[in-house]
Amino acid sequence: MTQAFQIPSTAFVLILFGATGDLAQKKLFPALFSMFKKGQLGKDFYIVGFSRRDLKDEGLRDIIHEKIMGGNKPQDLQNFLEHIYYQQGMFGEKEGYEQLIERLNTFDKKMGACITRIFYLATPPDNYLLILRHLLETKLSEGCGQGSSKWTRIAIEKPFGKDLETAKMLDEKLSEIFEERQIFRVDHYLAKETVQNMIAFRFANSIFEPVWHNEYIDHVQVTWAEKEGIGKRGKFFDGVGILRDVAQNHLLQLLTTVTMEQPRSFEKEAIRDVRAKAIDAIECVDPAINAVRGQYASYKAEKDIAENSQTETYIAMKLFVNTKRFQGVPFYIRAGKKMAKEKMEISIVFKQTCHLLFKEYGCPEVGNILTFRIQPDEGIHLRVIAKEPGSKLSLETIDMKFSYNEHAEHTISDAYEKILLDIMSGDQMLFNRSDELASSWELITHILEGWENSTIPLYTYKDASDGPNEANALIEKDGRHWI
Ligand code: BG6
Repeated sequence: MTQAFQIPSTAFVLILFGATGDLAQKKLFPALFSMFKKGQLGKDFYIVGFSRRDLKDEGLRDIIHEKIMGGNKPQDLQNFLEHIYYQQGMFGEKEGYEQLIERLNTFDKKMGACITRIFYLATPPDNYLLILRHLLETKLSEGCGQGSSKWTRIAIEKPFGKDLETAKMLDEKLSEIFEERQIFRVDHYLAKETVQNMIAFRFANSIFEPVWHNEYIDHVQVTWAEKEGIGKRGKFFDGVGILRDVAQNHLLQLLTTVTMEQPRSFEKEAIRDVRAKAIDAIECVDPAINAVRGQYASYKAEKDIAENSQTETYIAMKLFVNTKRFQGVPFYIRAGKKMAKEKMEISIVFKQTCHLLFKEYGCPEVGNILTFRIQPDEGIHLRVIAKEPGSKLSLETIDMKFSYNEHAEHTISDAYEKILLDIMSGDQMLFNRSDELASSWELITHILEGWENSTIPLYTYKDASDGPNEANALIEKDGRHWI
């Protein structure tokens, strides 16, 4: 599934909108630096940060230097920083874009060619339409190829819209300006090594496929728990909430790795086809009953949060997947910030039938569980039933584990390295297609509307806890428990 790394063969310039923001600083620049050290960026590349802050090239280099200095060789970092430039500009004013054109022209001149321009939108999403409009008006979207758009690509971060309508509007705007093959709608969970491995694991091991359906699977659980609160991202997060921030994208994509049918091949469109179908089949029946939302106790005291904020930092949902394979199998999903433990995993809980032979010796209440640990301690666990050692016959459950950490030859790179590499080499397989986004937004919008139109409570939960008790009730009323 993971393709061989391709080193971009041609020179490129990456224009990073929101270069001084959280995502760029925490994920994108460190990923770029790591790729640089591995020789994956080639030698002819330029990175131009575009932001509002009044800085010069040196100013941005200093910020990056400070952020990614720890444990790195100063010379490597110095060499990397020589590729970094800065363009100050307001997203809604032409001036910055015009100066950017001049800057980009100097790179083309130096290289003696029109080099590929990659625009990466990592700003708060309210700016997307504004930036797109200016890329169009200044013809930056066309690259230096005089109308030939093949010299540009656009990468756009999530959340992609606020609901179905705004997502469609944004998508229409994008497709007015760029062709589909130029558009990279980012969801970095798709590029996580462990998420890609789930697909390989499912289809490469023939022992799982025969039991991968409702006759054998009792239910599926997805847990996405982050210890951190919203930190400095209050301005972005408040009003967005965890449903839009991670459920609409990361969680639904995780779910599709369990529910999608086997692709015809590992070609881009074949994979996107099965993903799109799988997302389209997800249903939330009556969000008033099947979705619980919560907010951590200290949330309103965080920076940039409205005093009476009703934004959810926790969500638990019961979903169904309307396919023959999964008819009637509940999917319990929960995601929360400020949780007791950091844990992102998916568990497939198989039906527990006590074999006649063992009835009188007692059977464990829960039987086989296959767990994919996305992070931390990436790996796969399989819970099986075995004989408890001793003279009497009794059964116990044991855990068979595979952990990437225990295999020195397995190093897991950050998902953003894969994202950037794929954008540079033009591979769209791990990026959302419009139909995937439309289906996921349809589901999320249905839940949001369900919340809006009724008096569904927003439960407060303790910091560093497992979330509100009502989330336990959601699964316990079905006679099941969170793992
Ligand atoms: C981002 C969300 O997409 O993913 C954040 O906006 C979240 O709220 C982050 O913290 C988690 O990413 P990762 O790769 O650290 O699991």
